[in-house]
Amino acid sequence: MYNRQKVLIVDDKSANLYALEQVLQVLEEVELVKASNGNDALIAILNHDFALAILDVQMPDMDGYELAEFIRSEEKSKFLPVIFLSAVFSDEFHVFKGYRAGAVDFITKPFNPEVLLSKVEIFLKLDKQKKELNEQNFLLEKEIFERKKIEQSLRENEQKLQDLNSTKDKFFSILAHDLRNPFNTIMGFSELLLTQKQYIPQDKAEHFYKLINEASKSAYNLLSNLLEWSRAQTGTISFIPLNFDVAQVVNESLKLLEGMATKKGIKFISEIQEKTEIFADMNMITTILRNLISNAIKFTFEGGTIKISASYHENFVHLEVNDNGMGIKEQDIQKLFKIDSNKSSLGTNNETGTGLGLILCKEFVERNGGEIWVKSVLTQGSSFIFSVPQKG
Ligand SMILES: Nc1ncnc2c1ncn2[C@@H]1O[C@H](COP(=O)(O)OP(=O)(O)OP(=O)(O)O)[C@@H](O)[C@H]1O
Ligand SMILES: [Mg+2]
Repeated sequence: MYNRQKVLIVDDKSANLYALEQVLQVLEEVELVKASNGNDALIAILNHDFALAILDVQMPDMDGYELAEFIRSEEKSKFLPVIFLSAVFSDEFHVFKGYRAGAVDFITKPFNPEVLLSKVEIFLKLDKQKKELNEQNFLLEKEIFERKKIEQSLRENEQKLQDLNSTKDKFFSILAHDLRNPFNTIMGFSELLLTQKQYIPQDKAEHFYKLINEASKSAYNLLSNLLEWSRAQTGTISFIPLNFDVAQVVNESLKLLEGMATKKGIKFISEIQEKTEIFADMNMITTILRNLISNAIKFTFEGGTIKISASYHENFVHLEVNDNGMGIKEQDIQKLFKIDSNKSSLGTNNETGTGLGLILCKEFVERNGGEIWVKSVLTQGSSFIFSVPQKG
């Protein structure tokens, strides 16, 4: 499992080196590296990974203490255990000096081979245990890292599942209620008109026709949104970004919704300059504008004003649909674009909705690389702003 452990022995006298070698060579699993001066020892330290160093204290040029200091200052050897061997300096002062230089032990010469051997064996065992611990630590850290990665992807999957579930709930609730209601109106009143024609006075009949007409428009609107949304969910919606003048798309949307606004006495003001060119999917931008403008009409009182404007920001154009309608409660603002929290409320003329419009807007804005956000003050009005890339 391990390479052989290496022990550095440094002594300027070859007889001493020889004696040390004789004692230590009984350790079969150990490779001895010898050096007869400080410089050679330094080179050996830079080239090998030692488990233990045995240093003579008194050597010419560089003594054992200096060598030990170097060992401590090098990153790769700063924890290398050092045993000093000394004949001359075996008094307390020098022993302490040795410990301060980073020695783990101090042996006086002439040494007892048994003592030396058993000390060396202890340090080699410690080194082996340290390496094993390091390895276990490394494996443990790897395992913790892997586990964190798995946990993260589990959390992501859970979120995706939750979103899918909310999507499914929304779909069924639309089918069960929102689509049923207009059809009930259409079927009920048309049946009445067909079977009871002669008993219904003209003005009442007209009212019924109006209800049928409104219900079919609302069902149509809902179906268009639902279709686009389900296409977006299944990834089958086409996305063809092009450079085009968004002023024209805004004008067309305003024309389409003019009837709805006029009925409520609401005025449109378009401040968008001709040739406000953006790079986006035209169908998606049309859907976003249709939804934001029809919301503005829905949630603004008779006689209100809706303003559409554009501004340039770095590589984006910000398009803003502003109304002076009922506004939105602060705590409801952050719920608007989330499928599991977006709730539909009645318009100023009790218009109904499904709460699908803004979800669709967010999806399409993001698909085009932009963002959508709201500024609103309750009872004062709202601004829905979205960013789209400028002409590429
Ligand atoms: N301009 C606005 N002013 C005030 N409240 C708004 C405005 N636009 C949206 N809201 C609030 O956000 C809710 C969600 O809007 P969204 O367009 O998603 O759904 P909806 O208009 O109710 O139904 P749908 O668009 O599916 O017909 C609205 O019901 C309303 O409470
Ligand atoms: Mg809407």
